[in-house]
Amino acid sequence: MSSRTGAQASCLWGHRACRLVFVFACTFKRALLSCRVTNFDLRLEDCVTGMARLAAESIDLVVTSPPYNLGIRYGKFADTAERGSYLDWCEEWAAQIRRLLRPNGSLFLNLGAAPSNPMLPHELVLRLRKFFVLQNTIHWVKSIALPNDNGDEISSGHFKPINSPRYLNDCHEYVFHLTPNGKTPLDRLALGVPYQDKSNIARWGHTGGRDRRCRGNTWFVPYETIQRRARERPHPATFPVQLATNCILLHGLTRVERMLDPFLGIGNSAVAAHRAGLTSFVGFEIDGEYLGEAKRRLG
Ligand SMILES: C[S@@+](CC[C@H](N)C(=O)[O-])C[C@H]1O[C@@H](n2cnc3c(N)ncnc32)[C@H](O)[C@@H]1O
Repeated sequence: MSSRTGAQASCLWGHRACRLVFVFACTFKRALLSCRVTNFDLRLEDCVTGMARLAAESIDLVVTSPPYNLGIRYGKFADTAERGSYLDWCEEWAAQIRRLLRPNGSLFLNLGAAPSNPMLPHELVLRLRKFFVLQNTIHWVKSIALPNDNGDEISSGHFKPINSPRYLNDCHEYVFHLTPNGKTPLDRLALGVPYQDKSNIARWGHTGGRDRRCRGNTWFVPYETIQRRARERPHPATFPVQLATNCILLHGLTRVERMLDPFLGIGNSAVAAHRAGLTSFVGFEIDGEYLGEAKRRLG
């Protein structure tokens, strides 16, 4: 018992030093990466045609959100196909992504549903089993109500309210982490969070003395508050930059040479790639207005 306490005491000093070194190394690495200039290749083109021209196994990471076929009013794309032909089309772009991904690559596929159409994301992921293994299912929580320390409910984040006697407000979407063989390694602690109960740091050997645990698969990523949608977010179905940043970090910053978003929209994935200091990014978008906005945001 006493020797254990002694070991902990000597460890505590070690841990503090380790932590300082770790924080310094991370800050240095981040500073180095943020100095890197991302090479952007953004094309006004149908992604199936465009991806077919890229070399096989040339992409490490795909973060994307296709149209969900839920009748969203895009500028150019008609989001109202018959379900079967929509799923057939999804197979076409998914086959290209599979061809392009390196064996240890990741596809983070953001999909939402409508309350009256709840099976769509699941149907699509079932179809994609012929190309990928579902390695993780992440819940992107846009809004949540939690009790604070006084027991009062605090609600945080934004969502589109539904006026319905049957359906709940839809406050989340999925991010399916699909990989070629289910064995893509992840940098779980890059997205880690501190332990609430600090005794866990010493209790679990795998912490290596670091106050950091895996965040898990529920990510609270609220949309930024905006005043004028047409000017500040001129697209009907975006994800926040932070959602894409989380995917980059989880896949492993140092393991991404080239990232792809086949459904670029106004470029939130590209902004995340830029901020993370990735070397190379390729994106496709069929709508010139959205592509123009993406380019404007990237300067
Ligand atoms: C859900 S949105 C993506 C939004 C993006 N994640 C963002 O945050 O801005 C899907 C986008 O795919 C585009 N799109 C639809 N069909 C496409 C195709 N065949 N090739 C490339 N882009 C396409 C649409 O114009 C739309 O902007």
